[in-house]
Amino acid sequence: MVQEQKFLKGPRLRDLEEYDFPGLQRAMDIGSEAIIEEISQAGLLGRGGAGFPTGKKWELAYQEEGEFKYVICNADEGEPGTFKDRYLLDERILKVLEGMLIAAYTIDADFGYIYIRGEYFNSINILQETLEEARESGVLGENILGSDFSFDIKLVRGAGCYVCGDETSLLNSLEGMRGGSRTKPPYPISKGLCGCPTLVNNVESLACAAEILNQGSEKFAALGTAESKGTKLVCLSGDVNFSGVYEVEFGSSTLQEIIDDLGGGLKKSQDIKFVIPGGLSTRVLPPERLQCEYSYEGLDEAGSSLGSGGVMVVGSEQNLKDILTRIARFYMDESCGTCFPCREGNHQIYEIVSNSDNGSEDFPEEKLEIIEDLGSTMAAAARCGLGQTARLPTGSIISEFKQELTEEAVYHD
Ligand code: NAI
Repeated sequence: MVQEQKFLKGPRLRDLEEYDFPGLQRAMDIGSEAIIEEISQAGLLGRGGAGFPTGKKWELAYQEEGEFKYVICNADEGEPGTFKDRYLLDERILKVLEGMLIAAYTIDADFGYIYIRGEYFNSINILQETLEEARESGVLGENILGSDFSFDIKLVRGAGCYVCGDETSLLNSLEGMRGGSRTKPPYPISKGLCGCPTLVNNVESLACAAEILNQGSEKFAALGTAESKGTKLVCLSGDVNFSGVYEVEFGSSTLQEIIDDLGGGLKKSQDIKFVIPGGLSTRVLPPERLQCEYSYEGLDEAGSSLGSGGVMVVGSEQNLKDILTRIARFYMDESCGTCFPCREGNHQIYEIVSNSDNGSEDFPEEKLEIIEDLGSTMAAAARCGLGQTARLPTGSIISEFKQELTEEAVYHD
């Protein structure tokens, strides 16, 4: 039976009077290089989806020489099936704030932004209040907690644009431009907001960093597997009985156990058709591959990836064609349109999928091959993660269910 771990989760933490920022205090005692060592020893990998080592990122940002440096908390949580950052923003906001302050202190940043998904109304209210109270109580602004460290944060609301969760589009949006991606490299670490070195971290990564400084890297690294340290906030949704955010120790369970034990199995006693294990930017897994260990390496071996931790469970009663159309529509609508492969590729995939609804005659194997071909071109040539990964759910549904997709029965309930 899978048990929830409680490394990040805990009682609601919003009241500044009840919290004395132990992680930040320790960080200021040990200094930048020791903080970076601590985060690196912990083995924390970025929790936004890409899994880049956080310690390495902080080290690179620390080494950057710039007159002005920024820290940005990427709270533009738009990946379908992902709502873990909202949990942290609503319930554990002081841990996120603490992580951001530790990051700023470490790299000697001058100013910070929290870029938040515009539809997270409750989190926005909480953040506005928290930032004001933090300024009043000396946790933000000049001489934080009586030290010589000064730093302030501005909250910026996104405007309903998925691609602004991509860090380079986010930077454009913050600069007042249209939210379109930039070419990487240069990475934001060296040339980010207004051309200055900029550290962009996901909400969960920052909360983890605060806890690592608070509880120690040994405690974090003792949890998990060789390649996946610590715990992960898993967002369970779809056809499970109990959707929600669960904290799971890496390696402690299989994906199937998470679905059964934490999610309570499937609604209406359906069988599983497939699972999207890491948000919409990951490959689907059929039922026979759900015995994989829940860890970065476990999901890689199973043929998908951990992504942002958004586990979407699709039951056998769902219509494949509807799902494909919804996914294709999402990517077509959300492409920023800056680069041709993504703009045109997603449009073409949507056209093919949505117009192929008259049974097997209209969805022959050649059409599936065209979709796969378009997907490969996008993966190779699109400028940012949106276009590069758009093919993963669609392409994997097609390859796993090719036979079913070309059978008439799929389209007529
Ligand atoms: P990426 O692999 O390009 O970069 C990951 C991070 O590491 C970035 O901050 C990047 O600047 C940094 N980085 C990578 N190589 C570096 C280097 N050599 N030097 C300095 N910094 C370096 O991945 P990307 O495009 O940032 O993220 C893609 C992932 O985001 C997808 O896999 C998807 O799972 C996830 N995603 C998450 C969303 C969410 O709402 N949480 C929304 C959409 C996608």
